Amino acid sequence: MIAQSYSAMGYSAMATRHSESNILRVRQRLGKYRIERRIAQGGFANVYQALDTIEGVRVALKMPHHFNVTANMLDTFQREARLVAKLDHPNILPLKDASFIDGRFVITSRLGEKTLADRLRKRVSFKTALDLIEQMIAAVAYAHQNRIIHCDIKPENMILLPDGRLQLTDFGIAKVAQRTIVKTIIASGSGTVGYMAPEQAMGRPSARSDVFAMGLLSYRILAGTLPEWPYQWPPRGYATLKRKAHPDLIAMLRKALEMQPNRRYRDAGDMLAAFKRAKRRCLRATR
Ligand SMILES: Nc1ncnc2c1ncn2[C@@H]1O[C@H](COP(=O)(O)OP(=O)(O)O)[C@@H](O)[C@H]1O
Ligand SMILES: [Mg+2]
Repeated sequence: MIAQSYSAMGYSAMATRHSESNILRVRQRLGKYRIERRIAQGGFANVYQALDTIEGVRVALKMPHHFNVTANMLDTFQREARLVAKLDHPNILPLKDASFIDGRFVITSRLGEKTLADRLRKRVSFKTALDLIEQMIAAVAYAHQNRIIHCDIKPENMILLPDGRLQLTDFGIAKVAQRTIVKTIIASGSGTVGYMAPEQAMGRPSARSDVFAMGLLSYRILAGTLPEWPYQWPPRGYATLKRKAHPDLIAMLRKALEMQPNRRYRDAGDMLAAFKRAKRRCLRATR
């Protein structure tokens, strides 16, 4: 259960006291952190690269925009921190810290090299594609096992480390499923249209909608093009894909991309099992 009781009276008072500017300057200090540059500006938050001057490591520092800091907003951020703090998996970006510093709510994590979106601007070999896809599905399978639906699977939310490891991040709009019922904890907020399953766009997210988003992203990584509405099979780029991929891998993608949720994999765990089988066949065929 996510405690909503922490809602925020005290917190929002603390936060608004310093709310004049939540835009940080380069070289500005925030507790033990020294700001180096802004990495991203999202709808809800700014993300900065900063140096942890005590530990001597670089971090990503995520901070809500000040004008958005309402009790509701803080609940959302705190929820994200609590969700991620419970997860422990090599392919999920761990939280380093979540706290109030000088009245600002900040979530910090170890700095990644780039996002999968950055990586996809360059050519991806077939073998690297398989490796990235496996890491992504493994992360989501672990989240599903813990009854968490990510709801915002896209390349911008996957961080790559220098050693090639992929880590899933941004559980900002994730949902907690109770048995088969999806309990919507926050009413607003939505996944990104480009990777969103049709039924999620209608307000019905589930583990199966995460499967669809992973199907889209896997297809994009392998074929270089993102399938588009109305998601008729075969999508653009199919001829290229067919030359490289074993039929089992193509069948796996097709099943993940079924329009009807109940014809897809039940969750990422099932998708991962199918993917691993298909991957073995792909590698055997290219040897
Ligand atoms: N640990 C990190 N290392 C490098 N870049 C990061 C890290 N965390 C976030 N980012 C960058 O900041 C962006 C926004 O962060 P995210 O957690 O997805 O917040 P939002 O809810 O605003 O999308 C990411 O797409 C990525 O470019
Ligand atoms: Mg994001």
